[in-house]
Amino acid sequence: MSARTNFHCEACGHKSAKWMGFCTNCGVEEPLVERAMSGSKQSMAAEAVPVRDASKTRSDRLRTGWGEVDRVLGGGFVPGSVVLLGGEPGVGKSTLLLQVANAMGLQGHSTVIATAEESVEQVAMRAERLSLGGESVSLMADDDADAIVSLATQDRPSLVVVDSIQTVGVPEIVAAPGGVSQVRESGARLIRLAKTTGIVVVLVGHVTKDGSLAGPKVLEHMVDVVLSLEGDPDRGFRVLRSNKNRFGPTHVSGMFDMRGDGLVEVDDPSKVFLDGWESSVPGTIVYPAVEGRRSVLVEVQALVASTNQAQPRRSIRGLDPARVNQVIAVLQQHAGLSVTDKEVYVNVVGGWRLDDPGCDLAVALAIASAATGKPLGKLAAWGEVGLAGEVRAVPFQTRRMEELTRMGLVKQIAPGGGEPIRLRGALVEAGLKTN
Ligand code: TYD
Ligand code: MG
Repeated sequence: MSARTNFHCEACGHKSAKWMGFCTNCGVEEPLVERAMSGSKQSMAAEAVPVRDASKTRSDRLRTGWGEVDRVLGGGFVPGSVVLLGGEPGVGKSTLLLQVANAMGLQGHSTVIATAEESVEQVAMRAERLSLGGESVSLMADDDADAIVSLATQDRPSLVVVDSIQTVGVPEIVAAPGGVSQVRESGARLIRLAKTTGIVVVLVGHVTKDGSLAGPKVLEHMVDVVLSLEGDPDRGFRVLRSNKNRFGPTHVSGMFDMRGDGLVEVDDPSKVFLDGWESSVPGTIVYPAVEGRRSVLVEVQALVASTNQAQPRRSIRGLDPARVNQVIAVLQQHAGLSVTDKEVYVNVVGGWRLDDPGCDLAVALAIASAATGKPLGKLAAWGEVGLAGEVRAVPFQTRRMEELTRMGLVKQIAPGGGEPIRLRGALVEAGLKTN
């Protein structure tokens, strides 16, 4: 190691020979700090732990007892690892972790839930509502990261949950909890706890409506695993995704339903989604989404309504508004279907979020069906709509078709392996246009 790399970013660990007021690597607007050589050696040793753990066999992992959670983690928690669980307030992070902690307790692993957000009584009430025994789950209400570290160092539970990282802090830093410096310093101490004791630490982080982890963003670089729990808080469906995993595959997802008595695993999401599907109504279609390693059938709905507003409303839920607007423009320019003077509502049923462009064709057909008032029937469609009015093939063709076959949806419109199809042609094939 060169003795000249004296400065480093506390957020991402980036090293620099020069002092700077911000980090050129992760962009955090905090000055780089100088570090003594012994300190940097120590941090390098800590960094080596995950690598060794990564090659450990699956049996070294702590299974949660929840198939969907274990799958997302890549087989369970790796001892000494740090997991950041992000999600909007109310999505069910505390509920999930309480249930997971309880399930782990049933297998003989003890857990400490440090709840800085709610009182111990509130958590106990939730446990009661969930009918959890909870003998192996201890609760502590403390917003001091050091208090959590010393309790865990003494009691040596298998799992420590910190709910949430935005509400804990360290006394040496004057700033309020939730700010970048507090989140980073508390996070760093809790990460050190995991690395030195082998305890699994789960940090809960709230994200804002736009999906960004406000303060905890800096933590994403520091932790081993980043999970997000997503779903519309007003509706039951929840997806747990792994966005980063040093010990397992990413883009694996687990699916849950939030019921009155907590979260339950969903084994057959396609079946759940298509349960209330009314295919005889205009403006609805099925999209075979690919979520992690499987295909899930979701319903895409559109409603097109007249308005005398100068700027007609576009309300889009569960999709990227920019993509939907692009699809609307292509429909107009290349398929002769204009909704410019109409209100357009597009929705993915069940609180699901579709991020891949493969859903473009389904969105286009749903809008066109709603605009023309012609139902599509039991139809599924997929393909990426291009600006020239073409619809391109998207990956995982076989996986999508297998799931559609399994669910008995034989009517499908999608570009085959080779040539793109035309959006106009797809509208004709769907019976929405005559030429
Ligand atoms: P919570 O786990 O507190 O969310 P987070 O920690 O992500 O903020 O869950 C909050 C919502 O979940 C709340 O609106 C009520 C609902 N809920 C249920 O529907 N069923 C349940 O069994 C529980 C405990 C909560
Ligand atoms: Mg909570």
